[in-house]
Amino acid sequence: MIVNIKDSHGLKEAGLWRQLRSYQPTGPVEGILAGQRIINFGSNNYLGLTHHPKVVKAAREALVKYGAGNGASRLISGNNPLYCELERELANIKGAEAALVFATGYQANLGVITALASRNDLILADRLNHASLVDGALLSKAKVKRYPHCDMKVVEDWLKVDGQYRRKFIVTDSVFSMDGDLAPLHALTAMAKKYNAVLIIDDAHGTGVLGRKGAGTAAHLQVKNIPVQIGTLSKALGSLGGFVTGSADLIDCLVNKSRTLIYSTALPPSVLAAATAAVNILREEPKRRLRLRENVSYFKRGLSKIGFKVSEDPVPIIPIIVGRPEDALEISEALLSKGIFVPAIRPPAIPKDTSRLRITLSACHKQEQMEKLLNLLRKM
Ligand SMILES: Cc1ncc(COP(=O)(O)O)c(C=O)c1O
Repeated sequence: MIVNIKDSHGLKEAGLWRQLRSYQPTGPVEGILAGQRIINFGSNNYLGLTHHPKVVKAAREALVKYGAGNGASRLISGNNPLYCELERELANIKGAEAALVFATGYQANLGVITALASRNDLILADRLNHASLVDGALLSKAKVKRYPHCDMKVVEDWLKVDGQYRRKFIVTDSVFSMDGDLAPLHALTAMAKKYNAVLIIDDAHGTGVLGRKGAGTAAHLQVKNIPVQIGTLSKALGSLGGFVTGSADLIDCLVNKSRTLIYSTALPPSVLAAATAAVNILREEPKRRLRLRENVSYFKRGLSKIGFKVSEDPVPIIPIIVGRPEDALEISEALLSKGIFVPAIRPPAIPKDTSRLRITLSACHKQEQMEKLLNLLRKM
């Protein structure tokens, strides 16, 4: 039987239909989208490292030395020595004992949560967590309770009464991917300590961007002792892959129990080499992070002059909430017609009635490119 799912769920009518469009990058923030030359305000390439000459060179050399693919999972014969170097650097930058690299950030979240939590456990998860944390929690078979965004009172109330569980976890994005705000990590660590829960954070958007040396959100907020920190190599680090940092015991446990690590092919050597070069650049070129921060301040100042409400966090994710998905799409298309790409984000990636434009900034955006977007938004 051929299943015709073409809009069988009324997605088109609701303005929620999605389509793939070809995008050909010509630089870190410029490219050709569906045949049209654009400035890209929709990528998570925060430091522009996708195109850094050292990153490209490292990838090319590893490709020539080791070949295009890895041919097996890490536990079989895919554990290229480049993993060891990358994991050492990641543990170092996060100030952790050890690190473990997965094929993607999505797989890291799934693999970590399902390895640690199971039936008889409780997971408290922020309602605005990334889909991969939600999926990991649901897949773990633990009891999952989603608390209102950053609501510490509810977290405490639930931790207090739920004494019957074997283990308790609190799981949160540290930088919320669609809102650009920060989780209250001080309060969460205190809560985890008080009620003997394990705090797991996903620092996909903080790694490389926040904190001295780009160590991430915990470093930025000066929070220590978060036992499980997850990150991705695909955003500020310009490559591909996910990772977790923590104790050596944690990593040993994950190697033995994370199904997304055990049953999936290892990353290509070129990708590992690119990521390692990128982590080194975090250390060598703090100016990039500084430039990103200057761009964020510049753009947010511009937005607030026009009358938009902006947060003061130095985060390069800036949402403009529009409401209806059709309206977000219309504005996004209008910007595109002027050569600016800002994606329209619609449910289910975000809650109903909060469709938005999600602007992301890079250290590589030039002032005149940001001005062009600001001018268009002024006329919106
Ligand atoms: C908060 C968060 N976690 C995890 C991921 C998944 O990372 P990756 O793209 O490396 O699979 C993303 C990316 O979209 C994200 O925004």
